Amino acid sequence: MITVIGLGFVGLTTALGFSDKSYPVYGYEIDEKKKEQLRTGNIPFYEPYLEEKLNQHLNKGFTIVDDLQEAVNNSKVIFFCVGTPSNTDGSADLTYIFDAIKSVVGYINKPEFKVLVLKSTIPPSTTSEKIKPFLGNLGYRIGVDIGLTNNPEFLREGYAWDDFMNPDRIVIGREDEKSGMIVEKIYQTFDAPIYQVTLNTGEFIKYLSNTMLATLISFANEQSIIARTIGDIDIKQAFQVLHLDKRWVGAPASMTSYVYPGCGFGGYCLPKDTKALVSQSLFNSYSPELLISTLKVNETIKEFVVSDVVNKVKANENIGILGLAFKPNSNDIRETPAKAIIERLIQKGFKNIIAYDPLAMEDFKGAYSLPVEYADSLQSLLSKTNHTVILTAWPEFIKNEELIKRKNVFDYRYLYA
Ligand SMILES: NC(=O)c1ccc[n+]([C@@H]2O[C@H](COP(=O)([O-])OP(=O)(O)OC[C@H]3O[C@@H](n4cnc5c(N)ncnc54)[C@H](O)[C@@H]3O)[C@@H](O)[C@H]2O)c1
Repeated sequence: MITVIGLGFVGLTTALGFSDKSYPVYGYEIDEKKKEQLRTGNIPFYEPYLEEKLNQHLNKGFTIVDDLQEAVNNSKVIFFCVGTPSNTDGSADLTYIFDAIKSVVGYINKPEFKVLVLKSTIPPSTTSEKIKPFLGNLGYRIGVDIGLTNNPEFLREGYAWDDFMNPDRIVIGREDEKSGMIVEKIYQTFDAPIYQVTLNTGEFIKYLSNTMLATLISFANEQSIIARTIGDIDIKQAFQVLHLDKRWVGAPASMTSYVYPGCGFGGYCLPKDTKALVSQSLFNSYSPELLISTLKVNETIKEFVVSDVVNKVKANENIGILGLAFKPNSNDIRETPAKAIIERLIQKGFKNIIAYDPLAMEDFKGAYSLPVEYADSLQSLLSKTNHTVILTAWPEFIKNEELIKRKNVFDYRYLYA
């Protein structure tokens, strides 16, 4: 038996979705008016298919309860789907979450091991740093007396039913294996990959998704402003043509390689063209904040890599740089992150820098007269240093993971993560 707390967009969809999968589900809603309306088989918001599903399952697999204790006593898993609105300072208001948890835990007797599942969107570290200590103070040990997980929801309003029933992925943030496996089992009849991740990762993935979408929308809107300041640009047509890029197609689409962390973009086009459009836009009296930030973050990430190395390696030690080209399978070294990172390491007092790149070494050496030793092979570089910094995702480095990982690796292309 499953209990769902909060029967709004997410909670009602979750409750009816699990009913449709033949789980007996209790729904608990604090808003009396909403609850009574749902009991008459009518939903208080517009959402395709939900009303049909409500009438199909109401009082059969799906019961809307007044008595929370009855629901909690009879359930193994409790999903929290209450709202997490913004506080006036922009932070997430967790009052509803804590009120709901408080009302539920009062009915949980420790030996029964019930799993709490936070489906509401909550900022990364809420489960581990706020909810876990809260339960700890009440005497519950996570994974022993009570289960605790988060399970972000990715449904879109207007498509809630289809998104819930046919998810692209299911994310379960958990600390203990027992809780993770109980929640995973519930989702086993869904045709989607299930990722069990750390509590913080689970919450982070949801924010990663929403902030990326927000950034893409602002990107499109900023481009529309730039286009208007230039004039005679059919912005709709321009975006329609942009969408034809085959990197958008597929699962995962090749475009995903651009939405992946690294140590900065480089090469001939992205830095140069972004700078040029910023410059033209400023000339037209519009300051393109998003593009300016894009360039700024591209510098910040390189500084971040350098400070990570500086914090962990002494300047008089040898340090190996793996990769000089701005991307793999290329000898292009124009605006490559490796140049800026090596220069900054030199400024920080590093004198013994040894570099290796399968293709771009001669070009790098010729273009930039940096006081760096060049190794003629990966093995030769590894024989000279205990620390390596990976700056280009070359297949050779992926293939030689075991060898490279014998040394301390700063994996800034996330090859081995
Ligand atoms: N709406 C979306 O498209 C969407 C998508 C993914 C994730 N989310 C997240 O899911 C969460 C819920 O969103 P929503 O759109 O369903 O919100 P909502 O406001 O539609 O529903 C929340 C419901 O919880 C009820 N509630 C509050 N406290 C309660 C309590 N103590 N006991 C029982 N019921 C209680 C409210 O009365 C309300 O009906 C939010 O964190 C939101 O960010 C929303």
